[in-house]
Amino acid sequence: MAQEFRIDPWGTALRLEYEKLFEVFGVRPFAEILPRVREVLGEPLHLMRRGVVFGHRDFDKILDAYARGERVALVTGFMPSGRFHFGHKMVADQIIYYQKLGFEVFIVIADAEAYAVRRLDRRKVIELGLYEYVANLIALGLEKNRHTHIYFQTNYEVPYYRLMQMFSRKVSMAEMEAIYGKLEPAKVVAALTQAADILHPQLDYFGGFKHVVVPVGADQDPHIRLTRDIADRFENELGLRRPASTYHRFQSGLDGNKMSSSRPEHTIFLTDPPEEAVRKLKRALTGGRASVEEQRRLGGEPEKCTIYEFYVYHLIGDDRELMRIYQDCRGGRLLCGEDKQYAAELLRRFLEEHQRRLEKARDRVLDYVEPPKF
Ligand code: TRP
Repeated sequence: MAQEFRIDPWGTALRLEYEKLFEVFGVRPFAEILPRVREVLGEPLHLMRRGVVFGHRDFDKILDAYARGERVALVTGFMPSGRFHFGHKMVADQIIYYQKLGFEVFIVIADAEAYAVRRLDRRKVIELGLYEYVANLIALGLEKNRHTHIYFQTNYEVPYYRLMQMFSRKVSMAEMEAIYGKLEPAKVVAALTQAADILHPQLDYFGGFKHVVVPVGADQDPHIRLTRDIADRFENELGLRRPASTYHRFQSGLDGNKMSSSRPEHTIFLTDPPEEAVRKLKRALTGGRASVEEQRRLGGEPEKCTIYEFYVYHLIGDDRELMRIYQDCRGGRLLCGEDKQYAAELLRRFLEEHQRRLEKARDRVLDYVEPPKF
């Protein structure tokens, strides 16, 4: 029998083949529903317009619910395993976009998962959760309101824990291993915890039924599949409904491989001193040719350029400006040196401004979230 294709949400070296999500797992292309997004929600987020958010499950149902004026919420989470970088910012941008549209917001700091699966120091994880993740979310513009909830997995309300205990009755080891591959108890608990993260907002205890969308990186789809199955099995008993999801591409590290806090030289953190961030950026892999002469003649390759990717994901809001740079690069009129200078300037300005906000945000994290006591 052919080797089955599996996604490992805990795999660290993962570079996903995104098409597999469509072909093998039935994720739908986000581009298909973009016109309806525009109709119902207004101007789509830049990440949606530009195909960074590339796939979804049932997001059309979220749009229908929103159009009917029904309650909608988003749930997403962060594993506080390292400092907050631009890959994380992409999730923050989506959270804030939905919050502005009136979605209820549930943000989970996955400290239990970081402890049990990643085997990280508990104190360290809590510290990162507060002063890297929550602080950066606030500095990026997350509002505090009665429809916004941030919590640590180890420090939440009792019915949330009851949920995962109940879920354990209706999942088998065989089906979980079909999804995740070989499992150990820490991963079983992490998966059921994540199902509770995603499904608990629908309970009466947490304000009653609402339609839920989960914006995540494509590596999280196994959790979404399991959670949707669990929702079906608890529809009668608990009134749970399947969550929708959206999937974004990962931002590349500056060498073209994975962006990750374990590769700090190839990753830009939102707390990097601007000088240091610029230094890293200046060494980034571009789509440039071997010589200036060749580049003038053949043009550059923005598709392969980590600087261009930075523009698309973060640094340039205006689609026409982005298009102009793309064409100037392709046409051999814009060379990498000059372009990096420009990107560095945008990055420096962003970080200076952001870090001013961050300083104030650090004093406010405890208004947003209650840290675990032990
Ligand atoms: N497993 C996610 C990660 O590794 C974190 C997470 C925990 C999460 N619970 C969640 C993400 C619920 C989305 C929804 O980053």
